[in-house]
Amino acid sequence: MNILITGANRGLGLGFVRHYLQQGHSVWACCRIVSDDLINLGAANLHTVQWDISADDGPLGSLPDKIDLLINNAGIYGPGKDGQSLNKVTSDVMLDVFNVDCIGPLRVVQKLHERVIAGQGIIANVSSKMGSSADNGSGGTYAYRAAKAALVIVSKSMAVDLAPFGVHVITLHPGWVQTDMTHQTGLIDVTTSVAGMVQVITDARDYMGGQFVAFDGKVVPY
Ligand SMILES: NC(=O)c1ccc[n+]([C@@H]2O[C@H](COP(=O)([O-])OP(=O)(O)OC[C@H]3O[C@@H](n4cnc5c(N)ncnc54)[C@H](OP(=O)(O)O)[C@@H]3O)[C@@H](O)[C@H]2O)c1
Repeated sequence: MNILITGANRGLGLGFVRHYLQQGHSVWACCRIVSDDLINLGAANLHTVQWDISADDGPLGSLPDKIDLLINNAGIYGPGKDGQSLNKVTSDVMLDVFNVDCIGPLRVVQKLHERVIAGQGIIANVSSKMGSSADNGSGGTYAYRAAKAALVIVSKSMAVDLAPFGVHVITLHPGWVQTDMTHQTGLIDVTTSVAGMVQVITDARDYMGGQFVAFDGKVVPY
């Protein structure tokens, strides 16, 4: 398969790259700055592409004509919890996080959907349970929650719009994972989260288009 992953230089993105390379697939690893960890994978079937998804500029680097799987993984949390409290969150913070976490994946799909149609492929958008209203019992974290909630509905629209062209879209929740985003405080490691999400992606067409699914295969109410 031809697989394109954003935010591929560290964390979950790097975990996806490592997994799919080991399975023998061709991987286009998109990131702002290529990391040593990515380079050191040293695989012949690895292609690196420079892509900052916060801007409308296109990617720098060659892309495959046909994409079988696109994983919109790149994202930011924004300021720590207190910086996103009711009293402290600013307009700039709200807009910055929304720009990367919601508009970023939309930009990527706008640029690539013809290639995913050519591959009759899957698009997996990585959101977060933090974007689920049903799961929000603790409030706060305005920017991240709002951007990830918006990504869920954007992902659903993509699912509806692209289904007639043979493309299936799902939305993922990785669990609470030990990465830089959580300051390594998650409940599970990257390997466990990625293995679970890969299984959900493999079974993607068993889920409704746009359905929000956690790494353990459970549907997330939103
Ligand atoms: N970890 C968790 O517990 C958890 C839970 C729920 C959802 N998620 C979601 O899972 C995804 C991956 O998170 P992670 O835990 O692996 O976080 P991470 O370790 O902080 O990695 C984030 C990745 O996104 C990239 N990125 C950020 N802004 C970007 C931009 N403007 N353009 C391109 N790439 C950009 C980063 O690249 P740079 O190195 O250039 O910054 C990095 O590769 C995110 O969407 C996150 O919201 C994570």
